[in-house]
Amino acid sequence: MGRGPALTRRGGSSGRTRYRLPVRISVIGCGYLGAVHAASMAKLGHDVVAVDVDPGKIERLAAGEAPFFEPGLPEILTEALGSGRIRFTTDMAEVAGAQVHFLAVGTPQGPTGAADLTYVDAAVTSLLPHLSAGEFVVGKSTVPVGTAARLAAQVSEAVPGATLVWNPEFLREGFAVQDTISPDRFVYGVPDGEDGERAVAALDEVYAEALAAGTPRLVVNLPTAELVKISANAFLATKISFINAMAEISEVAGADVTALADAIGHDARIGRKFLNAGLGFGGGCLPKDIRAFQARADELGVGESLAFLADVDAINLRRRDHVVELAQEVLGGAVAGRRVAVLGLAFKPNSDDVRDSPALDIAARLLGLGASVAAYDPEAVATARRVHPELDYVESVADALRDAELVLVLTEWEEFRRFDPAEAAALVANPVVVDGRNCLDRDAWTAAGFTYRGMGR
Ligand code: UDX
Repeated sequence: MGRGPALTRRGGSSGRTRYRLPVRISVIGCGYLGAVHAASMAKLGHDVVAVDVDPGKIERLAAGEAPFFEPGLPEILTEALGSGRIRFTTDMAEVAGAQVHFLAVGTPQGPTGAADLTYVDAAVTSLLPHLSAGEFVVGKSTVPVGTAARLAAQVSEAVPGATLVWNPEFLREGFAVQDTISPDRFVYGVPDGEDGERAVAALDEVYAEALAAGTPRLVVNLPTAELVKISANAFLATKISFINAMAEISEVAGADVTALADAIGHDARIGRKFLNAGLGFGGGCLPKDIRAFQARADELGVGESLAFLADVDAINLRRRDHVVELAQEVLGGAVAGRRVAVLGLAFKPNSDDVRDSPALDIAARLLGLGASVAAYDPEAVATARRVHPELDYVESVADALRDAELVLVLTEWEEFRRFDPAEAAALVANPVVVDGRNCLDRDAWTAAGFTYRGMGR
């Protein structure tokens, strides 16, 4: 093992759990997080068994097929299956004997906004009969603060000598493999004392490669680890809503929010990343996490501390209203009966995920207002069709643009950025483009004859 944080141990103890590669790992839950984590652990040389209750998902993964679009995942999956280092099963009994059990099930938004812990609780309950002393249960799911302590007590009561720790992930869709194999940092939430030291040693073995390369590793207590994850997402959501609030002001004041972001982003304390104004955030994490965080703060009696997240959410949702209103405005008041090209359905590029996608929401709302919507996305048509089968999905940018009276760019795919505006002008019936992600070359589109409307500029 290399120098650096991998060698530091809390309390200075040497820690007794020293595995050699491969560590025997189980991953419980094969959704976005779990499937990527399992394949990445096998890629690192570990011996992995991955479990899910959905037989269809397990069948596809076992056949080397990624159940969702994620760059790099099919390759590492195939490699892992070929090397025999990974197997997929619906039988929880097969996790017996793993040294480290990762919990990677979903925590969706429940009816009140709070996180629904059904899957986490079910995973722990079904794991316990197969867990042995000396093994570690490692939570990766995003959970309300306090959950880990409750589960830790449940685990050590059922299986004395087994230890539950929390090790949140920070993976971004589209970069999930890279973020899992070489993350920005590791956070280990562990109990005090010897159990905690042994857990740190075990996770250090799992992540030996990245630690040797100098990836920072922070050892904290359980509630801190849970909060690190959710507060990171709350901060990112706040940063995006901040710049979108500036977009609202820029629009009425005649300023350009893109130039504003560039200028304030040069201040290293602010930074330019996550200051892209547009349609705001969607996806499987940020929207549900800010709501779950608020709900948890309310339960803990400190709701006021996170009251601002209601504004963050409201600013974010207003961006969608704004684009729907803009579409009506540029079409002279109403969209009914008008042909609208929608470019982009995924919540962000390089993903086929349409969960809480601003793009798909806008497309569906325009259809609801009577527009004839031709929707195209390089990867997300199939996932979008499952949620909104009533939209008219087309197979290419050109098919979407043909005879359009309005073009809406709602996800900043490279394919849209690179599309030739002159070719677009020749296809549409009316050259008006609303750039919902400020991703087009405004001058080039204007030069091609388009009326260009950006976000906050
Ligand atoms: C996020 C976090 O980044 C990740 O660390 C966490 O583990 C899970 O949630 P992800 O949901 O994959 O990851 O997407 P992210 O890249 O963060 O983008 C979230 C949303 O914000 C997207 O809809 C994106 O379009 C939007 N966004 C992002 C903006 O509107 N402006 C920006 O400047 C950045």
